[in-house]
Amino acid sequence: MDVASSFNIKDVEAIIKERRSLPGAMLPILHGIQEKIGYIPAEVVPLIALELNLSRAEVHGVISYYHFFRQKPAGRHVVQICRAEACQANGADALVQHAKATLACDFHETTSDGEFTLEPVYCLGQCACGPAMTIGEDLYARVSNDKFNRLLSTKLAAKRGAA
Ligand code: FES
Repeated sequence: MDVASSFNIKDVEAIIKERRSLPGAMLPILHGIQEKIGYIPAEVVPLIALELNLSRAEVHGVISYYHFFRQKPAGRHVVQICRAEACQANGADALVQHAKATLACDFHETTSDGEFTLEPVYCLGQCACGPAMTIGEDLYARVSNDKFNRLLSTKLAAKRGAA
């Protein structure tokens, strides 16, 4: 499923204008755009290239090098699972496998219904209580496979309740 995308080019122009004279302006610009509209639309690449006097390939190269930058809109909920060492020692690998199988998607992908985007993250400050994860702004610790299922069900039920 294609997740609906729309953005205001004026927002992008304002971010570029504000940040283009910073040292190493490309990353602050890309961060600003993702923060504002949730991803880096392909349509803004020529604009960034023009403003920074770079080629489109150079801008695209940076966007695709850093997995943090999304090239498509995220799902309704972004699920981040900690991949750092302490969580791995507490079973995060099994949780990651479970999450990928349950959502039928890999890291940096979105479920076919557009509900969940799965991403890795490196430490959420819950190292003694791993595996840790977030769903949107909400932080969860000691996440078992069952807890993961319950959390996702709760998010889907909340959506049905709001509909
Ligand atoms: S290592 Fe996972 S929260 Fe710190």
